[in-house]
Amino acid sequence: MNRTLGRSGIEVSALGMGCWAIGGPYAGGANQYGWGRVDDAESIRAVHRALELGVTFFDTASSYGAGHSEVVLGRALGADRDRVVIATKWGFTFDERTREALGTDSGVAYLRSCLEGSLRRLGTDHVDLYQLHLGDLPVAEALDLIGPLEDLVAAGKIRAYGWSTDDPERAAAFAAAGPHCTAVQHDMSVLADRPAMIELCERAGLASINRGPLAMGLLSGKYADGRTVARDDVRSQSYDWMTYFRDGAGAPEWLARVEALREVFATGGRTPTQGALAWLWARSATTVPIPGFRTVTQVEQNAGALAHGPLRPDEFAAVEDLLADLRVATVA
Ligand SMILES: NC(=O)c1ccc[n+]([C@@H]2O[C@H](COP(=O)([O-])OP(=O)(O)OC[C@H]3O[C@@H](n4cnc5c(N)ncnc54)[C@H](OP(=O)(O)O)[C@@H]3O)[C@@H](O)[C@H]2O)c1
Repeated sequence: MNRTLGRSGIEVSALGMGCWAIGGPYAGGANQYGWGRVDDAESIRAVHRALELGVTFFDTASSYGAGHSEVVLGRALGADRDRVVIATKWGFTFDERTREALGTDSGVAYLRSCLEGSLRRLGTDHVDLYQLHLGDLPVAEALDLIGPLEDLVAAGKIRAYGWSTDDPERAAAFAAAGPHCTAVQHDMSVLADRPAMIELCERAGLASINRGPLAMGLLSGKYADGRTVARDDVRSQSYDWMTYFRDGAGAPEWLARVEALREVFATGGRTPTQGALAWLWARSATTVPIPGFRTVTQVEQNAGALAHGPLRPDEFAAVEDLLADLRVATVA
C-alpha cells in the first residue's frame, strides 16, 4: 500500500517509521527530550525488518538524540538508502558530542549547515524531504527560508521540503509560497482529529505526515496496567503538550477511550495500534502516519497494518460514534 508525498509525486509506503525514539536519551538541563535508553543493535534490526516488510519512508530529525537517530538510521540503511525516502528536520541546535539540546536557530546559515550535518550522519548526498522543525516560527521568518530551500532543491541536495507545524495557517502560507513545498507534519491520531489541516492538505496537494499516530504509545493499550516510563523518557516530563501521559503513566481519561476503541478495531482483526493506523488512512488519502518504534516486534506489528488497509466505512463510522465529543480539541 503506497501513497504519494503530496504534489512532489514522490511515492512512499503508506506507513513511515518515526525515528525519534531510536536516537536515545538527550537533554537540555533538567529537560529530557529522548525516549530513554535504546539498544542501537535492536534499532538497526528493526529498520531492516521494516524494509523487509515494505516500508520505504523514514522520518527523523537532526536533533533526535542530538544527531544519533540520523547516525543509526544511516548505518541501518547502508546500501539500501536509494530504495527509501528519508525525511529529516532542522531548526533545533544541539551538541552532538555531549548529546545536549541547546536551543533553536531559524537562520539561513543554520538551515544550510544543519543540512550538511544531516547528510554526513545519514551517509547520503541528498535528503528527500527537508522539514522546518520550529512549529511556532512567525510566518514571515519561515517565508524568508523559501528562497534558500528552492536553491537547495536546484542543487540536488533536497528533493522537496515542508513544515512541521500544527497550525494550518502557517502551513498554508508556506505551501502557497514554496513550489517544492509538499508536506506538513502535524500531530494527528484517532484521538486527535485535525479537520482544518486535512482540508488544507487535500486542497493544496500536501502530504499530511502524522506524528504521534499512537498517542505516544498510549493507543497500544499497554499502559492500561498502570506501568510508568523511565525518568529519562520524555513522557515522564510535565510539558504543557504532554496530553496522554501524566507523571510518566497513561492519563486515565485517555486510557478509557483507548480501551473502548480496542473492541471496534478487534472486529476487523486488527490490534489496537493497527486500528489506530487504519483510522488515519481512512480519514484522508493524504495521510502518512509515522509511528515511532524501538523494537523489531513493534515494527512487525505496525507494518502488519498495511495488509489490512484503511478502516472500512462502517468501521470508521463506529469509531466516530464512539469518540464524538471525546477528542483532544473537545476535552478541557
Ligand atoms: N515534528 C515534531 O516536532 C515531532 C514531534 C513528535 C514526533 N515526531 C515524529 O513522529 C514520530 C512518531 O511520534 P511519536 O514517536 O511521538 O509517538 P507515537 O508514534 O504515537 O508512539 C510511538 C511509541 O509507541 C510505542 N509503540 C510503537 N509501536 C508499538 C506497538 N506496536 N505496541 C506497543 N507499543 C508501541 C513505542 O514506545 P514505548 O515502547 O516506549 O511505549 C514508540 O516509541 C516520531 O518518531 C518522530 O519521527 C515529530
